[in-house]
Amino acid sequence: MNDLQRWSALHADIQRAVVLLRAGELVAFPTETVYGLGANARNPEAVAKIFTAKGRPADHPLIVHIAEIAHLEYWARDIPEVAWVLAKAFWPGPLTLILKRQPDVPDAVTGGQDTVGLRMPNHPVALELLRAFADAGGAAGGLAAPSANRFGRISPTTAQHVRDDLGDAVSLILDGGPCTVGIESTIVDLTGPRTTILRPGMLSPFDIGRVLGRMPEMADNPLSPRTPRTSGTLEAHYAPRTPLQIMPNDSLPIVLRDSLVRREHVAVLATFPAPFDHPLISWQVAPADPAGFARDLYANLRKLDSLGCARMFIEKPVGQPWQAIADRLKRAAAGSGGA
Ligand code: TXA
Ligand code: MG
Repeated sequence: MNDLQRWSALHADIQRAVVLLRAGELVAFPTETVYGLGANARNPEAVAKIFTAKGRPADHPLIVHIAEIAHLEYWARDIPEVAWVLAKAFWPGPLTLILKRQPDVPDAVTGGQDTVGLRMPNHPVALELLRAFADAGGAAGGLAAPSANRFGRISPTTAQHVRDDLGDAVSLILDGGPCTVGIESTIVDLTGPRTTILRPGMLSPFDIGRVLGRMPEMADNPLSPRTPRTSGTLEAHYAPRTPLQIMPNDSLPIVLRDSLVRREHVAVLATFPAPFDHPLISWQVAPADPAGFARDLYANLRKLDSLGCARMFIEKPVGQPWQAIADRLKRAAAGSGGA
């Protein structure tokens, strides 16, 4: 297939996706962060299918994906000025805003909370899908979509990852190639007097602070009652089956030597090449810049996890630009080992 044929096939798939979504079916679609598992956010039965397919507890709220900044008003009420400022600065993009919900947003989407998460994703396929869906059913249409993985597992960044995880549970998977950001959106809570980051992402506190003229706060303990039911903040999440440890890079040689003494097969993800080759060591070199590391992270984790190693070691990320990556790795380590 040449590019034009590929694009027209994708375009036909998007039309098919709109029909399926309007009929209450699930469609997986690419975004710049990770693939989403989408359902018509106005249809509680359709949204319920998401929880079944993912094996996710039904009280966990979902992000509603919208086609236009102006559509915020269909979903949120009492929208503060900072929401418009952030949306204009960063949408379409990897930023989710938590706002007070309109009363008609289904409880199935919000987990029964009085708030709703909203995001306009920056991916041509997602945007075309959202626009076509809104055109077909009235502008107030949006797609509720969590990451298209089984609950607690590694988020998908390719269509194949979605197929591997969800298979027949999803009617259609739109293939938009590998995701370019690679980890989930930054979530900002705007429902209180402060601007609070609930989940770090590649859009950093400094990016947000620059636009607002003041730094946002970080939810210090994401597990505190202040931030209930944000499943991305559960301690064990994004987890491989192989027991995973984060290692400062000067400790790596020592733990590797110990593993070799025990004759264990180990996997390593590091930004530098293996110091030596050994049949018991599967070494994956990751990009040394945070954006590249994040883009490839989940594919690298899935690849290393599939090797059936006794252990996986990942080089400890250090410094602010690595904050969101460090957050995901910490949760991946906490949930690893088949939990
Ligand atoms: O990048 C992303 O955000 C991806 C793509 C597909 O858009 N989506 C994603 O969805 O990561 P999910 O469901 O895996 O994570 C969304 C997070 C969850 O931790 C959820 O609890 C939180 O957003 N969330 C959604 N609505 C919320 C609300 N009203 N209050 C607090 N947290 C909320
Ligand atoms: Mg998720």
